[in-house]
Amino acid sequence: MQQSPIDPSSIILFGATGDLAKRKLYPALYSLYRRGMLPEKFSVIGVARKDWTNEMFREHVWQSLKQFGRYKEDQEETWEQFSKHLDYVSVDLQNSESYAKLRVSLTEAEARFMIPGNRVFYLAISPELFGTVSFNLKDSNLLETDGWKRLVIEKPFGQDYRSANELNDKIRSVFREEEIYRIDHYLGKEMIQNIEVIRFANSFFEPLWNNNYIANVQITSSETVGVEERGGYYEKSGALRDMVQNHMLQMVTMIAMEPPSRLETEAIRDEKVKVLRSLRRFPVDEVKDYVIRGQYDRGIIAGKEVSGYREEPGVAPLSSTETFVSAKLYIDNFRWAGVPFYIRTGKRMPNKSTEIIIQFKTLPKNLYFNKHGNLEPNLLSIRIHPQEGIYFKMNVKKPGTDGVVSPIPLDFCQNCEAGINSPEAYERLLHDCLEGDSTYFTRWDEVSLAWKFVDPISAAFQQGKTEIHSYAAGTWGPQASTEMLGQDGFRWWPVYGQEELNTEHEAYFVRS
Ligand code: BG6
Repeated sequence: MQQSPIDPSSIILFGATGDLAKRKLYPALYSLYRRGMLPEKFSVIGVARKDWTNEMFREHVWQSLKQFGRYKEDQEETWEQFSKHLDYVSVDLQNSESYAKLRVSLTEAEARFMIPGNRVFYLAISPELFGTVSFNLKDSNLLETDGWKRLVIEKPFGQDYRSANELNDKIRSVFREEEIYRIDHYLGKEMIQNIEVIRFANSFFEPLWNNNYIANVQITSSETVGVEERGGYYEKSGALRDMVQNHMLQMVTMIAMEPPSRLETEAIRDEKVKVLRSLRRFPVDEVKDYVIRGQYDRGIIAGKEVSGYREEPGVAPLSSTETFVSAKLYIDNFRWAGVPFYIRTGKRMPNKSTEIIIQFKTLPKNLYFNKHGNLEPNLLSIRIHPQEGIYFKMNVKKPGTDGVVSPIPLDFCQNCEAGINSPEAYERLLHDCLEGDSTYFTRWDEVSLAWKFVDPISAAFQQGKTEIHSYAAGTWGPQASTEMLGQDGFRWWPVYGQEELNTEHEAYFVRS
């Protein structure tokens, strides 16, 4: 991975009064500042339509740190210093003339902090505006600079392959691919970045990491929240576009990729792209055999009654948008042929949990060891959230018995150790972008292949070729999802914190 000291630079943040900036971006910038990971000479210019002054903007950032910061604004002096780097400009994003004000403020800030024109344009705004803003930046000469320029864009990147391609063409007519940083915040998560190290720095995993030894892979990202205030957006996206097209497929690529030839950005991304190329695409009529979609109904979460999806604000009373997807994927290459990758993601499930479980095949002739019926397969679990860590489940003899086998966990919890407070994904990603390292951002070919995989599934959903199962809020999704694994002779293993435990052993693993 490239390691370069960070150049003095400006971050021009579009969507400065929005939710993402408040919840994630200001806290991330401030944490980087506190950790000494921003360049000494930097400036942050907030851009939005609201007619705010610099003071109002600084107050807004301060409030955001108080509410969401990893480091609270506990050190007055540090905050005072940091806040001097913050300015605000009100811009009508659709109106190119309005950008002149931004040019004036930016030039002034660059002169004040002696920044040689290095500019990050961060678009935390509605994707419909990505193209317009890019053109307006160009037309108002904001891209003519002696330094470098980078564009950071948030998801969703299009609604399907066609719209993503159109959007990409627009952006590419202004920025080069190397200048574009497409965010998938899952790639900034500590344990997702750790997958490469776990796989490629441990000699006992790599030889087993294939269809000879792995029975299946299970990737879960469950949430307890519903759609909250995002009904309008979610109605158009559903879980498939909101989570599967990006985060879930990115986790699949990290687990399935071949070792890169070099530890360099493009070499790593090339390997991820190869996985997406090998991902089996389902013809529309066959989607029902591989994909289960669900929608939450009323139910109970953490002891409280919650509404069904169709009762949420901004949601149509007869909506058929899915809030849950589980699927069986196949990567048709030499390493993975025949190994199902089960993925599931949903809202209003019992726990917030992101976890990858690798189930290994059982050894031949294990009947002898299974005479008491409790031999279980080896599992490797990579816990991404809320607990960060790994555990490995193996079988040993229960002490003092005549060969009774007992599964035990080898458990490593990273964020259980006092003092370990992993940086937020956005902290890492912002830092990488300032450094010019795009390894953990998605390249256009990744995005386009992910859409090509997802499009026939959305078509099947839209054409009513798959049933929409309802599930009670607070449950693990439709029964059909359990049956999908059951038909293959497998089951979903419990993820961290899961309470529906079938055996004493599971209870032990979840508690531990
Ligand atoms: C976002 C989705 O990309 O990821 C949200 O738009 C979802 O709907 C979120 O809640 C989940 O992210 P995390 O980091 O909380 O697992």
